[in-house]
Amino acid sequence: MGITTFFNIKQLLTLDGAKQKDGRKILKDDLGIIENAWITVENNRIKDLGTGKPPLSDKNIDLKNGVVIPCFVDSHTHVTYAGSRHNEFEMRAEGKTYLDIAKAGGGIISTVEQTRQASSKELEQTTLRNIERMKKFGVGFVEAKSGYGLDFETEIKQLEAIKEANKKFPFIKSTFLGAHDIPPGTKDKEKRKKDYIDLLTGKLIKHVADNNLATFCDVFLEDGYYDRDETKYILSEAKKHGLTPKLHADEFTNQEGAKLAVELGAASADHLLCVSDKGIQALANSETVATILPGTSFNLGLKYAPAKKIIEAGACLAVASDFNPGSNAGLNFQLILMIAITQNKISVAQALCAGCYGGAKALRVQKDFGHLTKGAMAVFQVYNADNYSEIFYNYGENKLKDLVTA
Ligand code: NIG
Ligand code: FE
Repeated sequence: MGITTFFNIKQLLTLDGAKQKDGRKILKDDLGIIENAWITVENNRIKDLGTGKPPLSDKNIDLKNGVVIPCFVDSHTHVTYAGSRHNEFEMRAEGKTYLDIAKAGGGIISTVEQTRQASSKELEQTTLRNIERMKKFGVGFVEAKSGYGLDFETEIKQLEAIKEANKKFPFIKSTFLGAHDIPPGTKDKEKRKKDYIDLLTGKLIKHVADNNLATFCDVFLEDGYYDRDETKYILSEAKKHGLTPKLHADEFTNQEGAKLAVELGAASADHLLCVSDKGIQALANSETVATILPGTSFNLGLKYAPAKKIIEAGACLAVASDFNPGSNAGLNFQLILMIAITQNKISVAQALCAGCYGGAKALRVQKDFGHLTKGAMAVFQVYNADNYSEIFYNYGENKLKDLVTA
C-alpha cells in the first residue's frame, strides 16, 4: 500500500489539545491548528504531520488549500428503523407534544409496528442509506441502536441488520436498546413491562452478548418508560454479560439519570436537558461522557441542555445527532453543531471537540478517532473554506469537499 502524503492544507485541526485533556475544559488552543500543513498516512493511520515543505511519498494528494478536520463521530443515533413519522412533525406543528403523541399510540410504538414488518435486509439497507446521508455532512463513525423491536425477534433482527451493515461500512458501534419503550399488547401495562424486563434480562441480553451483536446496552430512563430501579437492574445484568451501559438520561424530566449513569460506569449519559447540579458534578468526576443532542431540543422546541455548565464543571462533552424517525429526523451534523454553538451556547472549538473527540470517547474509540495525531485513523474531512469556523458561519451551506477514509 505504501505511504500517501496529503499536502496543501490551509488549516489542519489536529485536536491534539482535546486528546491531551481527554475532552475536558476545552479552549480554542486545544484545536491544535497547524497552518500550511501536510499529513502522511500509512496503513490507514497517520504516520506524520507538519507544516511547510511536505515529504514526497509513493502517492501525493493535493488538498487544494482546504481546511482539514477529523471526521465527526455521531455517538447517538437510531438509524435502523422502518417507515416515517412525518405526520407527527405536522401534529407537533399544530400544538401536540412528543409525549401527547406517544400516549395516543404514535411515537416509538408506531415505528415498532413498521420495523416488525421489515426484513433484516431492508433494515440493513436503510442503515447503510442513512449512514451515506450522514457521511455527506462529515460523519465518519456512527453509533447505531436497536429499540424499535421490543420483542426478541425484532430486536435481534435490528442488531443483525446493523452487523451486516458493519461489514460494508467498518466504522459502526452497535447498542442494544431493548428498553426503549414498553411493548404494546394487553391492557395491564405494568404486567407487560415486568414480563418484558424478564425477557430482556433473561434471554435477550444473553443472546445479544453471546452473538456479539452489540458493544453497549442502553435504557430510556424517563417518566412513563423505565424508572431508576428498573434501569439499574437491566444495565447491571447487561454488564454481567460484558455490555457497557449507556443511558437516555434526564431528557423530559430529572430522574437523576446522570448520577445513575456514573454509578453504573456508563460510557455516556445522553440528552441531559433536565440534569441536576449533582448530576453534572457526578459526570465531571467520572469517565462517563456527557452527551447533548441539540437537534432534538431544536426539533421538539424544548429547552437546551446546560452544556456550558457541564464543560465548566470539567466533564467531557459530546454532541450527537440523536437521528431517529420521531424526536429528531435531522442528521446534518454540521447543523447539529451549529445549534450547539448558538443555543447551548458553547464555543466553536468546544462544539468541534465535542463532535469529534467527545463522540469518540462516548463510543470508547478515542484512541483512534476524534483527533488527527500520530497513530490515529486517517479518517478526515476536507472543507472548501478559508477558516474552520465558516462551517458554521455559513450554516445551511455544505462546504464539505471530501470525507477521506484513506
Ligand atoms: O432519543 N428518547 C428516546 N428515544 C429517542 C426517540 C425515538 C423516537 O421518537 O422514535 C430519542 O429522542
Ligand atoms: Fe435516542
